[in-house]
Amino acid sequence: MPLLLSHHHHQLLLLLLLVAITASHGDSSDDGAYDPSMCLNQKYTCGSVSITYPFYLAGETKDAKGYDNSYCGYPGLGILCEDDDKPILQLNGAANYTVKSIDGALATVSLADPNVDDDRNPCPRPRIDRNVTLQEGSLLYFPDSAVDYLIFFIGCNFNFTFYKPSSIYPISCESFDDGPGPGLSFVLPDDAVPAGNWVQACSQVIQLPVHKYGAINLTDPGWTNGSEYASVLRQEFQLGWNESGKPPACIQCEGANSKGRCGHNRTGDFIGCLCPDGRVHSDNNCNKARRQHSKKTMTILNKM
Ligand SMILES: *[C@@H]1O[C@H](CO)[C@@H](O)[C@H](O)[C@H]1NC(C)=O
Ligand SMILES: *[C@@H]1O[C@H](CO)[C@@H](O)[C@H](O)[C@H]1NC(C)=O
Ligand SMILES: *[C@@H]1O[C@H](CO)[C@@H](O)[C@H](O)[C@H]1NC(C)=O
Ligand SMILES: *[C@@H]1O[C@H](CO)[C@@H](O)[C@H](O)[C@H]1NC(C)=O
Ligand SMILES: *[C@@H]1O[C@H](CO)[C@@H](O)[C@H](O)[C@H]1NC(C)=O
Ligand SMILES: *[C@@H]1O[C@H](CO)[C@@H](O)[C@H](O)[C@H]1NC(C)=O
Ligand SMILES: *[C@@H]1O[C@H](CO)[C@@H](O)[C@H](O)[C@H]1NC(C)=O
Repeated sequence: MPLLLSHHHHQLLLLLLLVAITASHGDSSDDGAYDPSMCLNQKYTCGSVSITYPFYLAGETKDAKGYDNSYCGYPGLGILCEDDDKPILQLNGAANYTVKSIDGALATVSLADPNVDDDRNPCPRPRIDRNVTLQEGSLLYFPDSAVDYLIFFIGCNFNFTFYKPSSIYPISCESFDDGPGPGLSFVLPDDAVPAGNWVQACSQVIQLPVHKYGAINLTDPGWTNGSEYASVLRQEFQLGWNESGKPPACIQCEGANSKGRCGHNRTGDFIGCLCPDGRVHSDNNCNKARRQHSKKTMTILNKM
């Protein structure tokens, strides 16, 4: 009876299988040690802002699992504590924003200083030369309910194929005459930009996220002389971080049964569960120790 295994055979096979699983499990879930100082185990205070996981200190990245500059936290949530008291969040790797507050319960962070030049300048201009966006893989997002966008069109020249739209007025401030090219400049809400090839016509087009604004009268001198858009720019605005953007492995790692922290590498990929025992667990469960395996094995064996 080659096809029908006896009860005895069956048991033996199962036992071998269990031994194989248990053996293969033991150490293979342990992916080595990591430097626990990369995790914020207590809250870290920078100025008046408390920083805790899933934020991390951008200057405290470490090698983990062979990846350099890995961190204990979520992509996009690295904070630089400048001069030990100025928390800075870099958005697209260049735009430095001051962190005013972090609300872990609401998963929000409030930012100020919209990367425009001196506050006393009546007509602030962006200090950066590209759009402020969120880096790829960041769990941060601009909530529609809290954020609007202003676009700076600087040094624009019109011609017979692209007329200056009659519905908008250029910024009247002299500081906009300084370049980088000759022409008219405009500051417009992103939803009020007349059709046209602006990127071609202007020497700079820069989009900034700003605190949600109310009704704007673009033809009012208060807008074109800078005083109104400056006050929009100077308001703090809020970003959210999207917990549901976490990979399932990270959710499992952080779960009540595990209490680990999600490690990511420089490119924002999840690399493993950073456990309180100082080890990286590739099975994403800090509690899955050998003892539990053998207990489970015993239970199954007893049932046979
Ligand atoms: C942002 O801050 C970093 C670190 O202090 C600095 O190296 C960089 O030049 C700053 N970028 C801008 C645009 O100010
Ligand atoms: C910057 O944003 C503007 C307005 O949304 C867009 O037209 C332009 O293509 C963007 N520039 C880059 C380099 O993505
Ligand atoms: C007019 O300006 C637009 C935008 O800068 C450009 O694409 C186009 O080639 C110009 N046309 C002429 C005739 O110069
Ligand atoms: C916008 O401002 C202009 C100039 O001050 C004024 O004439 C016009 O009535 C304003 N429009 C609205 C809708 O308030
Ligand atoms: C800008 O225009 C507004 C409204 O006309 C006026 O109240 C304000 O004083 C002006 N600001 C400057 C700097 O000219
Ligand atoms: C959050 O992430 C999930 C999964 O990636 C996505 O479906 C959802 O649209 C995101 N929500 C926001 C507000 O970005
Ligand atoms: C980060 O980890 C992912 C997945 O393991 C890998 O594909 C990627 O190359 C890593 N990035 C770097 C910079 O090593």
